[in-house]
Amino acid sequence: MTNDADRLATPVIAGNWKMNHGPAAAAAFMRALADAHPPRFDRTVILFPPAISLPALARARAGRSDIALGVQNVHWQADGAFTGETAAPMAVEAGAGFAIVGHSERRHIFGERDDEVGRRAAAALEAGLRPIICIGETLDERRAGRLEAVLERQLAAALDAIAHRDADFLIAYEPVWAIGTGVNATPDDAANAHAYVRRLLDARAGRTAGVPILYGGSVKPDNAADLLGAPGVDGVLVGGASLDPRSFAAIANARARED
Ligand code: PGA
Repeated sequence: MTNDADRLATPVIAGNWKMNHGPAAAAAFMRALADAHPPRFDRTVILFPPAISLPALARARAGRSDIALGVQNVHWQADGAFTGETAAPMAVEAGAGFAIVGHSERRHIFGERDDEVGRRAAAALEAGLRPIICIGETLDERRAGRLEAVLERQLAAALDAIAHRDADFLIAYEPVWAIGTGVNATPDDAANAHAYVRRLLDARAGRTAGVPILYGGSVKPDNAADLLGAPGVDGVLVGGASLDPRSFAAIANARARED
């Protein structure tokens, strides 16, 4: 069970570089971010480079322990014949403290199923990584009124797989129609979905009470404050706007607006 000392500072500002920034670019990014973003401990900042750039990013981080690192996926086995996959213990060895699992690109481009996402989350926890479990509906599912059913199905599969483990994970609500499109969910859309996810988490006997719920999908410097100010939004998972150190620093320093 997570104790308070292990609680992450919120908001959580996470940058998912996807398949961008090799080792040299990753190191240059870290130096620029360190200049643009002085250390602060009232929030959690995490970068998710491609796995191959993780060691270079970890080295370039030098003394900046306030900037956490993670990988964009992990396999459910600790080693073996799984060409192209990353094992969670190896990610830990390379400097990761977090792992994204179930990103919509993994689900929709690479065909990852709900049960696999759960196994990946379980393997991350087993290795000492905090998983960020991504869930979210497509535009067709939303239009068909299936938002809640999709979130419930995806969440249940992941939570069932980690039921016997620590509640040391995060959820990212990422509507597929908002990812990489420039069309972010409104703060109200995010608040409604987060409230539903929170109810689903609470239904698990309170074990998951402190689990942060992040919003992802076209988060930019100019909408970050409004999204972070939406009720129930504990942080953001940023794709495109995390690739530039200045725009990521602007999001990492955004103050939640509470209008
Ligand atoms: P985006 O990506 O910010 O480029 O929309 C978000 C994500 O995929 O996590």
